Amino acid sequence: MKQAMPLTCALTFFTLLFAQLAGADATPTRMRALLMTDYGASDVLHIRQVAVTIPARGEVRIRVHAASINPVDWKIRSGRLQKTSPVSLPYIPGRDVAGTIDAIGPGVSGWKIGDSVLAVLDGGGLAEYAIASVENIARKPAKLSFKDAAGIPTASLAAWRTLIGNANIKQGQRVLIHGGAGGVGSTAVQLAHWRGAHVIATASSRNHDYLKSIGADEVIDYSKTRFEDVVENVDVVLDTVGGDTLQRSPAVLREGGTLLTLVGKPPAEACSERKLRCPSPSTATDEKPGEELAKLAKLFERGVLKMTIEAEFPLADAVQALELSETGHARGKIIVRMID
Ligand SMILES: NC(=O)c1ccc[n+]([C@@H]2O[C@H](COP(=O)([O-])OP(=O)(O)OC[C@H]3O[C@@H](n4cnc5c(N)ncnc54)[C@H](OP(=O)(O)O)[C@@H]3O)[C@@H](O)[C@H]2O)c1
Repeated sequence: MKQAMPLTCALTFFTLLFAQLAGADATPTRMRALLMTDYGASDVLHIRQVAVTIPARGEVRIRVHAASINPVDWKIRSGRLQKTSPVSLPYIPGRDVAGTIDAIGPGVSGWKIGDSVLAVLDGGGLAEYAIASVENIARKPAKLSFKDAAGIPTASLAAWRTLIGNANIKQGQRVLIHGGAGGVGSTAVQLAHWRGAHVIATASSRNHDYLKSIGADEVIDYSKTRFEDVVENVDVVLDTVGGDTLQRSPAVLREGGTLLTLVGKPPAEACSERKLRCPSPSTATDEKPGEELAKLAKLFERGVLKMTIEAEFPLADAVQALELSETGHARGKIIVRMID
């Protein structure tokens, strides 16, 4: 018995040392996530415990502090994208996260555990831990909160790639932004204003003061006024609404103007008749998403762009966050918190 005590102490010491070296105390093997078990209504979404994944080559794992919702999350859930972009079930929704790197896969250099980042993902963001390709991450500026940073990726990338990457809008141009108060629209209005454009935005009247405060020069209440009755000779239209709004948009563009759409295909006939540039909805660029995110994060850090958060929810209420997005009337972004 006299000899057993030192042996126990030694065992405990080595067990703790091994655990620390292996990082076993840093990451649990299970995490909470929003799991989609089928296509359908909100009842296909469940908060469940799932395995924490190890990052593969070229990937990092992020301890997610906050995520943001995009319409694509509930569009995937509803099954409306099942034919064009099927997901393998069970699936964790969520494309935008901000957090700290907690594990690094092979072949990754320039990043270390503890770095604060924002990332755009191909799903998996509504969880306590998420895996990201190193090409899709950018450093989070210290001045930016995790919640604001989580609001950036998908929506701001779409605004950036279309208005700057595709149309390269310039000082003095007239730009019409449909859906100016949404996630994409809020960044788009601010980017167009920053470039010195004359910004016209559509939204319901509850958002008019908001839109003016972020740089819109003219606002149109789409529920009361047909935009083509009051707007003409526009250089660029960015449509984030689609349907009838998209079909009616060529009429307000000057000959040779640019019609950018994120929802649906541009009307080919009107585009060729009026000699418009109507690039396809694809928003891919030559730059890596992480490089584009770094530029956007800098603009938010400098105060050129400001994040607007309509609402935030704890992970336990992530289903409600998707439901709010599905109303189609959120102002700015909807945030889900993993860490309070
Ligand atoms: N292809 C891509 O890469 C890509 C990337 C990002 C987004 N998207 C798509 O682009 C669309 C917009 O995304 P988002 O994140 O900006 O959505 P969102 O944040 O949900 O947009 C909500 C906004 O839309 C406005 N709105 C609704 N109906 C409108 C109408 N008829 N006219 C003008 N504004 C209207 C609302 O303003 P009121 O409350 O004032 O009505 C609200 O502020 C979605 O369909 C999304 O899937 C595509």
